[in-house]
Amino acid sequence: MNEYINLANSRRSWSFFKDIEVPEEYEKIILEQANCITPALADNYLYRIDKINYEIKPKMWHYMHSTYIPGPPNVKFLNTPMEDALKTGGWHERNICINSHFTAPLVLMISIPFGENENYEIGKDTLNIQIGLSMWHIAMVAQSLGLNSTFLRSFDTAGLNKTISLSDENSKLYKPWAFICIGYGKTKKDVDPNRKKHLNIVNTLTIEPRQS
Ligand SMILES: Cc1cc2nc3c(=O)[nH]c(=O)nc-3n(C[C@H](O)[C@H](O)[C@H](O)COP(=O)(O)O)c2cc1C
Repeated sequence: MNEYINLANSRRSWSFFKDIEVPEEYEKIILEQANCITPALADNYLYRIDKINYEIKPKMWHYMHSTYIPGPPNVKFLNTPMEDALKTGGWHERNICINSHFTAPLVLMISIPFGENENYEIGKDTLNIQIGLSMWHIAMVAQSLGLNSTFLRSFDTAGLNKTISLSDENSKLYKPWAFICIGYGKTKKDVDPNRKKHLNIVNTLTIEPRQS
């Protein structure tokens, strides 16, 4: 089968990654590929991609979780250090979904401009799709290098914005939008790793002209 199709088909999400660094030369390739290789959209790149370093990571951890509805009664954020939280467990019972994959050796943060009205010139939906394309490209580049990846979009955005401040060369402010966590996978996210990815979504709709 075509090499690309093989890579795409074999890609899965991972909950935990091995305690092995991503080789420097691989990280370089991933960052180069993250640097606007995906569709140019008339050269509109309103997002940024940054590597999360080891100093800032533990500070961000407290906000890298989501809560199941109706959510925990009195837990505003996860006040437990990263390693302890992973050892303790029991978060699911407290209606908290922790993103253990944030501990991956290479975490890239995708950020978008912070704005009150958020009227991006290329349109919010278009920007989001462009970012999605970039994230998939990064995931596939990682896969092609023998690495694994997991996306991360569920986190406490408001909390994170209070903890870290993001600005570009023109002092324009940004907010974290999504993360991609990369490393050598240890535990797959799925309870059934053999689960088929396909759900029959292609050519399933009846498309008809409306009767006027
Ligand atoms: C855009 C996007 C955002 C995601 N965000 C999270 C997240 O915040 N936390 C999480 O545990 N998994 C997240 N996932 C991973 C999904 O849970 C994962 O894709 C799912 O378990 C299916 O596994 P698969 O990728 O191996 O098919 C996200 C996936 C996508 C596509």
